[in-house]
Amino acid sequence: MLFFAVNGKKNETTSFSTRLLVYLQANIFRISIMDYQAIIDKYYPEDNEQKRILVKHSRMVADFSLELARRHPELGLDMAFIEEAAMLHDIGIFLTSASDIGCTGDMPYICHGFLGAELLRKEGFPQHARVCERHTGTGLTKERIVESEWPLPQRDMSPETTAEQLICFADKFFSKVKYLHKSRTFEQVEESMARISPESVAKVREWAALFL
Ligand SMILES: [Fe+2]
Repeated sequence: MLFFAVNGKKNETTSFSTRLLVYLQANIFRISIMDYQAIIDKYYPEDNEQKRILVKHSRMVADFSLELARRHPELGLDMAFIEEAAMLHDIGIFLTSASDIGCTGDMPYICHGFLGAELLRKEGFPQHARVCERHTGTGLTKERIVESEWPLPQRDMSPETTAEQLICFADKFFSKVKYLHKSRTFEQVEESMARISPESVAKVREWAALFL
């Protein structure tokens, strides 16, 4: 159908078909160039502890995110996007200072989401970048960024889309040290969120009702 339309005689049809072709090519191109492993390898060229932890943690989060998305087909989530974004959500950790996970950068660890988002925006993946900068805790509100004086842009960085919320939620079940290889229980997730704020506990309960 596309072939005949593109080669058809009517200009209007050709114009529509050309736009459709450009749209399809753009989307096929997007799928073909999103290679999360290549992006990880670009920023983590050495096979060291830092990379081993990043890849293991990201895989755990990605697998759990995919499992939750499969449990809820009614949410209509893009599985490829879920996997890619979950595998890249912590790409910025190498720029931060966190000696227990082998990170020797200059920036505070709280900035890793935003720093990773900057990298992914530079790579041409603005939607994946949003998952990076909105996954810390249950998201960083503008008020919290301002009152904590974190070196971050003073704007809201809370997960908004369903995919952003699901990956943020899945991430809370894992850490990069104690819960690297096994998942926290939901009760343990609640306990860890209670150390942040009552609002964070309420948020994970809301997400549990949606995603578990
Ligand atoms: Fe994470």
